[in-house]
Amino acid sequence: MPSDAPAHGYDFVVVANRLPVDVSLDDDGEPTWTRSPGGLVTALAPVMASTSGAWVGWGGSPDLELKPFDVDGTELIPVVLTEDDLEKFYEGFSNDTLWPLYHDVIEPPAFHRQWWDSYQKVNRRFAQAAADQAAQGATVWVHDYQLQLVPKMLRELRPDLRIGYFHHIPFPPLELFAQLPWRVQVIEGLLGADLVGFQRAGDAANFVRIVRRLTDLTTRGQMVTLSEAEGHTGRGRHVRAAAFPISIDSHAFDELARTDAVRERALQIRRELGDPEFLLLGVDRLDYTKGIRHRIKAYGELLLDGRLSPQSTTLVQVASPSRENVGAYQQLRDDVELLVGRINGDYGQVGHAPVQYLHQSFPMEEMAALYLAADVMLVTALRDGMNLVAKEYVAARSDDRGALVLSEFTGAADELTGSVLVNPHDIDGMKDAITYAVHMDARESRKRMRRLRRRVLGHDVVAWSEDFLAALNAVPVRASRD
Ligand code: F6P
Repeated sequence: MPSDAPAHGYDFVVVANRLPVDVSLDDDGEPTWTRSPGGLVTALAPVMASTSGAWVGWGGSPDLELKPFDVDGTELIPVVLTEDDLEKFYEGFSNDTLWPLYHDVIEPPAFHRQWWDSYQKVNRRFAQAAADQAAQGATVWVHDYQLQLVPKMLRELRPDLRIGYFHHIPFPPLELFAQLPWRVQVIEGLLGADLVGFQRAGDAANFVRIVRRLTDLTTRGQMVTLSEAEGHTGRGRHVRAAAFPISIDSHAFDELARTDAVRERALQIRRELGDPEFLLLGVDRLDYTKGIRHRIKAYGELLLDGRLSPQSTTLVQVASPSRENVGAYQQLRDDVELLVGRINGDYGQVGHAPVQYLHQSFPMEEMAALYLAADVMLVTALRDGMNLVAKEYVAARSDDRGALVLSEFTGAADELTGSVLVNPHDIDGMKDAITYAVHMDARESRKRMRRLRRRVLGHDVVAWSEDFLAALNAVPVRASRD
């Protein structure tokens, strides 16, 4: 047993940028928390209940020093992020370097050495916190692009651990990834894991190809072989890279959308919108990857062409606030609000606006009611790791009605074959697809929705985490763990 393994550690440790709660200080300086319901919490609930589990992450407020606390049997281990870390690690390197680089450079990534220094420093802090909490031979599951260096740093601190990493966003092709000045360090960071999971098979293939081109390691199919020295067995250590498409808590969502309260609210929403003949819906974080500008442009042209009537059609666009200190997000907000204002100015009437724009976040109940109310759901991302909104829409439609227009550049497009697929860069093609979805006959939409629901309800987020953890446990045990 390594001397640095804690005497009483946790058998299962999740490491993610955010804790599953938002913590802040109340007026008396006492910490209070509110649950931030995410798929990951649901996915891991069964594992957390069956083992001693801890979750290492940031509480959501700067400079907040808190002791670990228990929420529903999971120990939450807060990591402090200072204002400076937020600026350089979170807004800077994570969301102004990696985010655009990994999303097809839709916006140009900024490369700053100070941001990289901060990224390394904060990753080391997370790795140390995980090393301090994990029991001998424990399983540690690291999440997402903010923490790509953690697997290697953690393995150096604790070679006894079984380490998994899941990448929630796209993994780019070599031709884009190669721009990153610290590309080799990032790849080496990820190779600290035993299993590196991605949303799509194409992401895993990109990763393996990058490993082949940027390192002298050998790869075979999904397997990367590290040197003998890394293996502790006299044979090389293996790292597997494979796809594990994430999902949602589909059954809970389905049940929520069947409740009387949600159904009544859905009817009320339509009434409040003046009972439009066609209700279109977009639900996104206000992010330039989501294709909101392209979608609104296509909708505006459909009104201009007279293919949709502004009197009888409404587009509800929920755009929840996100990363508001990053310049590209501020610009996007201005662009979207200008577009919406123009369309409503040109085609609105007293008491009716063809675009209902909501720069807000809503509780799940309200989202379920919106999904149920909408005739057509528009998911037109320019690039998206998965897109869980598409899956939520499907899970809410137990009435087998509605139609999903889905960008082919989302991970969800691999699975949701009953959708109407679009290339959001092709505005004419998107206009045709929206028109097709709006006028789809009931028989076809029922058939498509049933196919979509079979997939979404048949593969939920618990199945996703079980698949990942089973694959992680199948990684051969190394001598140092014996
Ligand atoms: O899709 C990646 C992701 O980090 C999600 O995990 C998260 O819900 C979303 O982006 C918003 O992230 P944040 O507000 O932490 O920047």
